[in-house]
Amino acid sequence: MDVDSLRQCLAEADQSHVLQFWDELSESQCSHLLEELQGMDFLELNVFFRKAMDAFSVSSAQEKVDARMEAVPREVLGSATRDREHLKDWETEGFTQIAHGKVAVLLLAGGQGTRLGVSYPKGMCDVGLPSSKSLFQIQAERIIKLQRLAKEQHGKDCIIPWYIMTSGRTMESTRAFFQKHHYFGLKEENVVLFQQGMLPAMSFEGKLLMEEKGKLCMAPDGNGGLYRALGAHGVLKDMEQRGIDYIHVYCVDNILVKVADPVFIGFCVNKEADCGAKVVEKMNPTEPVGVVCRVDGVYQVVEYSEITLATAQKRSADGRLLYNAGNIANHFFTRRFLQQVVEVHEPQLQHHVAVKKIPHVDTKGLIVHPEKPNGIKMEKFVFDIFQFAKKFVVFEVLREVEFSPLKNADSQNGKDNPSTARHALMSLHHCWVLNAGGHFVDENGTRIPAIPLHPRQENGTAQDHMQNNMQDVGDLPIHCEISPLVSYAGEGLEPYVQDQEFHSPLIIDGNGVHQSVKNGISF
Ligand code: UTP
Repeated sequence: MDVDSLRQCLAEADQSHVLQFWDELSESQCSHLLEELQGMDFLELNVFFRKAMDAFSVSSAQEKVDARMEAVPREVLGSATRDREHLKDWETEGFTQIAHGKVAVLLLAGGQGTRLGVSYPKGMCDVGLPSSKSLFQIQAERIIKLQRLAKEQHGKDCIIPWYIMTSGRTMESTRAFFQKHHYFGLKEENVVLFQQGMLPAMSFEGKLLMEEKGKLCMAPDGNGGLYRALGAHGVLKDMEQRGIDYIHVYCVDNILVKVADPVFIGFCVNKEADCGAKVVEKMNPTEPVGVVCRVDGVYQVVEYSEITLATAQKRSADGRLLYNAGNIANHFFTRRFLQQVVEVHEPQLQHHVAVKKIPHVDTKGLIVHPEKPNGIKMEKFVFDIFQFAKKFVVFEVLREVEFSPLKNADSQNGKDNPSTARHALMSLHHCWVLNAGGHFVDENGTRIPAIPLHPRQENGTAQDHMQNNMQDVGDLPIHCEISPLVSYAGEGLEPYVQDQEFHSPLIIDGNGVHQSVKNGISF
């Protein structure tokens, strides 16, 4: 398209200002801008904007959804703590599917990580673990370990392909990072990077905002941009060719994520679900987490701001919050379901509005850094498709075992930052050592209590012990890191730690145990 045709398209969409500075641009700026604008449908963008804003103003004005909400019924709920008698069967089912090459993982890694404030993709972050491993490396090693475990159980090699959704902002650096680290031991052909779409930011009046005189303000179209990208890049076709039936979708920033968790996969397969959500218990009514529930009979995630405090505070007979299924963006889908979403439902999904302060060039060509929100970014969410599921299930897990997101920098509030992520991982690994019969001693050689006194512990089960340990080890100054190549979820550690006493720090990796071992074998 030449610049005159472009001018006309922009005029028809009332967006002529985009070329306002055209005559001031260098030749290369002109060609970049032309290239950026070429594939855009400005009328369609206006429709996206209007629909998103209409839905936003309706939802802001509307009464809360409380009256239309129902909690997740027990029959679709599986629980890592309350269904212990089934966990082994679900795990066996999951490993069977993995061993038969039916399972893929799909990582959502297209976000900008604005709150964390680093200039590179979040998956490249090293949160300060003794090993200095990045989030990408931890996830890659969990995949490798699962492949090995599945092989041990079923006697054949298997592959868990890893699909990674990046965006225009994260693609190149992500690819370079994986290349530099030789795909962390995975085969390059089994790590498939693809790119989600970007959308321009718009003013509240629906005008495209310019980042520079020759460049639009572009942002990824939300993690629900996944569905458009799956279709656009032939990802589902690739899955079909590899024989994949089940897909585990998760976020890059959860340091504890159990990638391709066989228990979760086995649970969903066993229930013949086409869509499943892993959740953690929301403990506090005012915690700003979305909850999975039914609204008007269909499943969705309801944000804290969409319900009244009175509803958020409601409790069931067992004392737990009634709406306690905290969404952690950790999902199971069948490939068939995703196929249907891509072919039928995706175009009907509306964008959500994210109101933002967006730096931009004003009509005089000056760069403005607004102090108040001045526009919107449009996003779809990965959970927007729950409503289309024919069989939806929910799997509840312990937060301390499976969820610690990296959202903020250490200097910001003390939540969800590199320190909390590092601490969560080391606390969990400390707990694995205790469960495998190892002990930690302090500088005087006194054993640090393995299972601190806890009222629920008296008649407790192994899972209660895990929970109790998790609650109590968090504050201890134990530094403990176990490579995912040694243990996926705490299994197989006895030969390394049973009846041993350790000082912190303790590191167990493929080369053995690193630290001073007080009694027993040393590695
Ligand atoms: P967040 O909503 O936490 O966004 O993403 P973020 O980009 O990581 O951080 P902020 O909000 O800018 O500070 C949750 C997950 O969804 C992915 C992220 O990479 C993360 O894994 N995501 C988010 C995408 O893949 N694409 C997007 O457009 C947005």
